[in-house]
Amino acid sequence: MRLLTAVLISGLSVSAQADNVQALSAEGLALIPAFQQQLMGTVKAAMSSGGAAHAVEACQLSAPQIASEHSQKPWTVGRTALKVRNPDNAPDAWEREVLAQFAQRAAAGEPLEQISQSAVVGGEVRVMKAIGTGEPCLACHGKQIESALAQLIDVRYPQDQARGFAQGELRGAFTLRRPVD
Ligand code: HEC
Repeated sequence: MRLLTAVLISGLSVSAQADNVQALSAEGLALIPAFQQQLMGTVKAAMSSGGAAHAVEACQLSAPQIASEHSQKPWTVGRTALKVRNPDNAPDAWEREVLAQFAQRAAAGEPLEQISQSAVVGGEVRVMKAIGTGEPCLACHGKQIESALAQLIDVRYPQDQARGFAQGELRGAFTLRRPVD
């Protein structure tokens, strides 16, 4: 009887925690559209005012700043990928594992827009959502980057790995974290 009660209680607390993680994960996912729109808007505006080279400069200056502006306590918002342009965006062990799972899910035919994952890791709720490669991304992340632009990227990001992508391919992921309570 005592054993049964213990099993029931631990079963309950596990499911309460699962509900809580699901609610927190939804809260995190809801922060992504505004973050994404501001990134896209900044790149588009820079492209139309000064072309791709200007947009790379704008991106280098603004992307980290936009991420910190959208990191409203208690959440921290960012982007990561297996192949990064900015080494500050390199994945940690959990992110690397999730990115590998996302690649498998995409290869199995799951649409990128639907791919996300959340978990409690080391006292934090962590959420990731896949980012696909759209046509406008190819100028800077594709297989045929215009040579002057490729040189500029080489200068600004000497360790760049984020090129050679095809349209529709998994480019990386949004990554969010917050303490559990
Ligand atoms: C004008 C060039 C340009 C365009 C267009 C562009 N990017 Fe980037 N991208 C960059 C630069 C520069 C960085 C590094 C900025 C940073 O996050 O510090 C970057 C970083 C990223 C990152 C963060 C991981 C990393 O590699 O550091 C992701 C994810 C990403 N881009 C996805 C996209 C997607 C998806 C699109 C299309 C919707 C896109 N980019 C369009 C230049 C560009």
